[in-house]
Amino acid sequence: MEQIVNPQLKGHTGIGHTRWATHGAPTDDNAHPHANANGRIAIVHNGIIENYVSLRKYLEHLGVTFKSDTDTEVLVQLIGRFYKGDLEQAVRRALHDVAGTYGITVICADEPDVIVAARKGSPLIIGVGQGEHVIASDASAILAHTSQVVYLEDGEIARVTPSEFRLTTLEAIPVNREVEEVEWSLDQIELAGYEHFMQKEIFEQPTAMENCLRGRIDLEEGQVRLGGLVDCTRELIRTKRFILTACGTAWHSALVGEYLFEEIIRIPTEVEYASEFRYRNPIVEEGTTVIAVSQSGETTDTQAALREAKQRGALVLGVVNVVGSTIARETDAGVYLHVGPEIGVASTKAFTGQVAVLALMACYLGRRKHMSVASSTLFLTALSRIPDQMRETLKGADQAKEVAARFHQCENWLYLGRGFNYPLALEGALKLKEISYIHAEGLPAAEMKHGPIALITEGMPVVFIATAGSQYEKIMSNVEEVRSRGGSIIAIATEGDREIARHADHVIFVPDTIEPLQPLLASIPLQLIAYHAAVLRGCNVDKPRNLAKSVTVE
Ligand code: F6R
Repeated sequence: MEQIVNPQLKGHTGIGHTRWATHGAPTDDNAHPHANANGRIAIVHNGIIENYVSLRKYLEHLGVTFKSDTDTEVLVQLIGRFYKGDLEQAVRRALHDVAGTYGITVICADEPDVIVAARKGSPLIIGVGQGEHVIASDASAILAHTSQVVYLEDGEIARVTPSEFRLTTLEAIPVNREVEEVEWSLDQIELAGYEHFMQKEIFEQPTAMENCLRGRIDLEEGQVRLGGLVDCTRELIRTKRFILTACGTAWHSALVGEYLFEEIIRIPTEVEYASEFRYRNPIVEEGTTVIAVSQSGETTDTQAALREAKQRGALVLGVVNVVGSTIARETDAGVYLHVGPEIGVASTKAFTGQVAVLALMACYLGRRKHMSVASSTLFLTALSRIPDQMRETLKGADQAKEVAARFHQCENWLYLGRGFNYPLALEGALKLKEISYIHAEGLPAAEMKHGPIALITEGMPVVFIATAGSQYEKIMSNVEEVRSRGGSIIAIATEGDREIARHADHVIFVPDTIEPLQPLLASIPLQLIAYHAAVLRGCNVDKPRNLAKSVTVE
């Protein structure tokens, strides 16, 4: 949270919002807060008022003049029309006329101690301090003030003063909600000597992975312990089909999950973009388990997908990082990542955490179906070595920096992988484009010859995730295809591979592990390449343009 230092600002009640533009360009006029006609009521709003066009026409007809192009101003003007000396009542009345999503806070000059907050579809929490309350959309924003929080549910309104808060539904029915403790600490959300949160979070991965795996692996029995799944284990074992649904990086980890589930549990598994799943009348037969994968637990499309799945009778699980988030609360059961807060917009440690949790879930169920003690012990031994192998991988961080230094001015990159490393190719490309604004495409390596090979020109950087395993020979043929067309080869390879240096311009080695777990190590150099390329290009690494950490609009 940026601190506002302005001696002109007086008072003890305030609202503010970093806008992610949905309606109207990012200009001062469209910036929040917005105020009603007489300027006495002000609002900040996260979400979209879907019927804002008709509401705006109605208000203009009544003589209201608008100062911005936003949907938000429509809501505050409406609240102003209904205001008769009680802000909470006016907000409640206005929200009855509104369709869409919102997390709002509203203040009024005539009730200087009061903030009214309401939620539908966009996250909101109340931080409970000593003689003060803070409202935010994310726990990390208020940790400096308090770790005691109350989560608002959809369709609830809060009236908050410095000394108390009161929760009601939109229909004015009182709600009792317990105050909860946020498990994150303040030092976890500070830079701790790093230049950027993304850099910190990349380097935190060995510890984050230890925390994620702690207490969950029983090597002697070859068993996985996942407390969050105990109550639904019988139903899970009877699952006939898994659907993993997610967005962005979480979708890439879900894709690794598909490979892990089919390989280890041997149950048909598919991965769906949450935004597509929710709108395409999906077939959810009996015996389907839907797993929503999300770092924030607040991504609107993922939430909507899981609600759709639930309505159709599926067992719905969450693989989520933020404890108490909407997805965590709305799923039947689930597994937390426990990788700590992720502040940088580009997801790094949450990606490896998601892959690790999906690996644990695969083994948890595989072992209960047909996996022998010996093979699950082998798998879990490899998994428990990952934190130390991540430390080893990070020792080679300078190699990624060299790659970035050589190629950061190239505007087009390709990332290619096969098998378990194919989702990594997509993830490596996403990391590069989102923070360094370089165009990059990720593909299953064999797909290259069906079109994208036409893009290859002299010196074009092509990153191959070419770790040892069943696909090694195949991917080496793809390396040759690119090399013979003049592409510059950057290979992520397994330590001890003596052959690869003869084929690649740059090689970054990662420690050896079993094939299904290679994404946990090979993702690190990809994250580092993107990070250094962004730094060298002078980009805002932690807050890339046009992006938000949690995407709470459709
Ligand atoms: C990319 C990135 C996004 C998120 C996506 C889903 O680095 O962070 O693609 O992965 O917006 O977010 P969550 O996991 O919070 O649902």
